[in-house]
Amino acid sequence: MPLHIAIDGPVAAGKGTVARLVAQRLGSLYVDTGAMYRVTALIALRNTVPFEDEEKIVELLKQNKIEMRNPNETEQDGRLTTVLLNGEDVSWDIRTEAVGQGSSKVAALVKVREHLVEKQQEIAANQDVVMEGRDITFKVLPDSKLKIYLTASTETRAKRRHYELQTRGQDVTFEDVYKDLQERDDRDMNRAIDPLHVVEGAWVLDSSNLTIEEVVDLIVERAKELKG
Ligand code: DC
Repeated sequence: MPLHIAIDGPVAAGKGTVARLVAQRLGSLYVDTGAMYRVTALIALRNTVPFEDEEKIVELLKQNKIEMRNPNETEQDGRLTTVLLNGEDVSWDIRTEAVGQGSSKVAALVKVREHLVEKQQEIAANQDVVMEGRDITFKVLPDSKLKIYLTASTETRAKRRHYELQTRGQDVTFEDVYKDLQERDDRDMNRAIDPLHVVEGAWVLDSSNLTIEEVVDLIVERAKELKG
C-alpha cells in the first residue's frame, strides 16, 4: 500500500514548502494541486475566457497538455515544482496575484474540480505521495492514513506571502496582500462545492510559532511511525 500524506490548509500556510521537504526526506513524490488550478486560470486568461465559463474552461483543459514534475538541475531558481503548459515552462507565470485570484474562482467550478480531482487520484494511484491543496484530506485522498490541516494566523500568513512576493521583485503593499489573502480564504472556505475545512481525525498543525524545519520534522516522524 502506498503511503499517502494529505495536506490541506489556507493560503500561504506554508503547505508547499513543507510538503516538498517532507517528500524529499521520504523519497515520495510531491504534488502541488494548487498549481493545477493556477494553470487552469492561466489558460482562461490567455484565451480571454471569463473565470465563470465552466464549459469552455473544461474544454480548454482537455485540449491543453499540463505536466508537473520535480525541478531539474537547470531549474533551481526557488520554484517548488515545474509546471509545463503544452511544453512551455509556466512555473512562474502561474505565481502572479492575478492568476492566484483567478485560480480560486475557477476552483469553485464543479466540472473543473471533477476533472482535476480525477487527475490527482491517478497520480497517487500507485506511488507514495505528499499531496497538498484544499480538498486532499476529504476528497482526493480520503483514505489517507496521515491527514494534516496546516495553518497559521492570518497575520503570519500575510507577512510570509508579502516577503515572498517582495523577494520575487513584485511590488505590493502589505495591506493589499492581507486583503487578497482574506478574499481568497473566504472563497476557498465558503464555496458551494468541497469548501476547505478541517476533516474529522485530521492533525491540525499551527505553524505560526514553528520553523519550517520543526514542522517538517514533526510530519516526517509521524510518517515513519506509520510506515513502521
Ligand atoms: O495553494 P494555491 O494558492 O496555489 O492554490 C490556488 C487556488 O486553487 C486556491 O485559491 C484554492 C484552489 N485549490 C483548490 O480549490 N483545491 C486544491 N486542492 C488546491 C487549490
